[in-house]
Amino acid sequence: MRLTLETESPEQTRALGAAIGRRLRPGDVVLLHGDLGAGKTTLTQGIAAGLGVNEYVQSPTFTLVAEHAGRAVSGAPIQLYHLDLYRLTDEAELESFGYGQYLAPTDGVSVIEWPERAGDWLPDAYLLVRLEIAGPDRRRITIEAVPAAGDLAPVVEEIAAATAG
Ligand SMILES: Nc1ncnc2c1ncn2[C@@H]1O[C@H](COP(=O)(O)OP(=O)(O)OP(=O)(O)O)[C@@H](O)[C@H]1O
Ligand SMILES: [Mg+2]
Repeated sequence: MRLTLETESPEQTRALGAAIGRRLRPGDVVLLHGDLGAGKTTLTQGIAAGLGVNEYVQSPTFTLVAEHAGRAVSGAPIQLYHLDLYRLTDEAELESFGYGQYLAPTDGVSVIEWPERAGDWLPDAYLLVRLEIAGPDRRRITIEAVPAAGDLAPVVEEIAAATAG
């Protein structure tokens, strides 16, 4: 299914992110598409909260990836790898920082802003989130699992159920 929601504040976007983050498991990858200022980092802050990360999350400035330690609801440690490929200059750079390992993270979850900068180098399965600016404080957010019947499909169903009504 493809879930479409609208948020009316950064706080609501963070709350949605937390609902996503609580449902992610080690190995999961989330791709965030959307223009500058669409809310990708804001959503990531919520995902981080949902993963039990306590430190402040902002886009990595001098590196393409920032790592944050979280703790799942079960108490198990889980890492958040926050990638922002906006400043990627050429695809060769992906190899040099080990992009491939972030597409199949064993001990955590990867959240990737501007994944389109990596061309068609994509993980096998991922949660695809698109954010669109629909007004000064309004964002239209669509969430779907790729492939549609893949491992992340239940996550979308659960978020739909949790945000309904
Ligand atoms: N409903 C909303 N959801 C998310 N952000 C919102 C919302 N309404 C207003 N904003 C504002 O929009 C901006 C979103 O910025 P953010 O850094 O999250 O975007 P981004 O998609 O990560 O941009 P970039 O491509 O530059 O990294 C923030 O200033 C935030 O306060
Ligand atoms: Mg950002």
